[in-house]
Amino acid sequence: MEKREFLYDGKAKQLYATDDPNLVIMLYKDDASAYNGVKKSSIKNKGVLNNRISELIFMQLEKNGVRTHFVKRLDDSNQLCKKLDIIPLEFIVRNVVAGSLARRLDIEEGFVPANTIYEICYKNDELRDPFINETHAMAMNLVTREELDHITDLAKKINKLMIDMFDKVGITVVDFKMEFGRDSEGNILLADEISPDSARFWDSKTKNKLDKDRFRRDMGKVEEAYREVLERLSNND
Ligand code: ATP
Ligand code: TYD
Repeated sequence: MEKREFLYDGKAKQLYATDDPNLVIMLYKDDASAYNGVKKSSIKNKGVLNNRISELIFMQLEKNGVRTHFVKRLDDSNQLCKKLDIIPLEFIVRNVVAGSLARRLDIEEGFVPANTIYEICYKNDELRDPFINETHAMAMNLVTREELDHITDLAKKINKLMIDMFDKVGITVVDFKMEFGRDSEGNILLADEISPDSARFWDSKTKNKLDKDRFRRDMGKVEEAYREVLERLSNND
C-alpha cells in the first residue's frame, strides 16, 4: 500500500490518499486540543497510544459484527481505513453523567442516569459543534430517517460491546463519541476513532480518570493514563 497525497490536517489526525481510491491512511498525531481548539498542546506518544487503542476497540467491534472503516494498522502512527463520506454528526452515548451534560443540567459528575443518554452534535467548527436533535439533522439533509434508525441500533450495540470490553479490565465507560460514514455502496460504517481522546474512561474502583479530561482539566499524568488503558486492553487479548 502506497501513501500518496496529503488530504487533510485535523486537530488530532491527518489523512492521506493511497493508490486505492477506496482507502485512506489515517495518521494519529500527538497534538491535543480541547474546548474547540481554544486549549492546544501536545501529549507525548498520544498518537501511538490512540492508534493502538482504537485498533483494539474497532477489531473487537468487527469481531462482534459491527462494520467499521478499520482495515489494518500499518505502523506506530498510521492506520489503513476505508475512505468514507463522513456524516457531519457526532453521536454521543452517555452511561454516566460527566462533562458538558453535568454543566448543562447541573447534575453531579458520576450520577448514573435511569437510562442511557444519546446525543447528537452538528460537526461544524465555526458554530462550535452545536447540540442538535434528529429532526434538525434530517431537516439539514445530513441523514435520512432510515439511516438515523440504523445508527441508533448501531450505537446501542456498540455501547453494549464497549461496556463488556472495558468491564473486563476494570474500566467504566462513562461516555464516548462516534462518527459514521457511507461507503461507495451507501453502507453505514463506524468511522474515525474511539480512544481516550473521544471517550471518558474511569477506573471502576478508584474512579481515577483515564482519558482526555486529565488534559482538559490540567490534572497531569495524561500519557500515563492513555498507556494504562492500552495496557489493560492489551493484557486482556
Ligand atoms: P473533529 O474533532 O471536529 O472531527 P478534526 O477534523 O480536526 O475535528 P481529526 O480527528 O483531527 O478531527 O481529523 C480526522 C478527520 O477525518 C475528521 O474530520 C473525521 O471526520 C475524518 N474521518 C474519519 N474517518 C474517516 C474515513 N474513514 N474516511 C474519511 N474521513 C474520515
Ligand atoms: P461532552 O461532555 O459533551 O464534552 P466536553 O466535556 O468536551 O464539553 O463530551 C462527551 C463525550 O464525547 C466525551 O467523552 C468527549 C466526546 N466528544 C468528542 O470526542 N468530540 C466532541 O466534539 C464532543 C462534543 C464530544
